[in-house]
Amino acid sequence: MHIRPMTIEDYDEVYAMWQITTKRALSSADSLGRFKRYLGRNPEMSQVAVSDGKIVGTVLAGHDGRLGFIHHMAVLPEYRRHHIGKQLATQALKKIFEDGIEKTQIYCYSDNETGQNFWKSLGFKRTDNVLFELESEY
Ligand SMILES: CC(C)(COP(=O)(O)OP(=O)(O)OC[C@H]1O[C@@H](n2cnc3c(N)ncnc32)[C@H](O)[C@@H]1OP(=O)(O)O)[C@@H](O)C(=O)NCCC(=O)NCCS
Repeated sequence: MHIRPMTIEDYDEVYAMWQITTKRALSSADSLGRFKRYLGRNPEMSQVAVSDGKIVGTVLAGHDGRLGFIHHMAVLPEYRRHHIGKQLATQALKKIFEDGIEKTQIYCYSDNETGQNFWKSLGFKRTDNVLFELESEY
């Protein structure tokens, strides 16, 4: 297994993997056009884990110049609990921190106990601050 930066050519395989791992978090932001734009805005930050030529894990990572953000942290079910997620997250965080960003946040569903345990194991602390969202009507 090795970790490498995600590329635009990975889109079909990554998107198929997300159908298994990340379905409820998928949105119009995961179209090919938006994927290309995201990787272009955050070069070399998002990562994939590859085992025998197959993508088995993903992490989308980026920042807005102030705050880092991680999306679609996922490992295929049959590859879990081998620290693949940890290696992916560590590499993504390294890239964000190397770009001078001190703080990174993730969005985790409140009923996703595995996700919360995973992030806590990496040192993330749950914040009580309230998250506000606005969806565009366009
Ligand atoms: C969360 C996820 C990415 C973890 O990937 P993984 O490769 O299995 O995780 P790792 O093996 O690197 O685990 C690192 C640590 O996280 C914690 N952890 C991971 N999975 C856990 C689980 N099911 N239960 C409890 N703790 C868990 C453990 O502390 C683990 O360290 P340990 O195995 O030495 O005890 C994977 O379960 C997944 O894809 N889940 C579905 C998508 C998802 O929910 N993503 C997170 C969105 S917020």
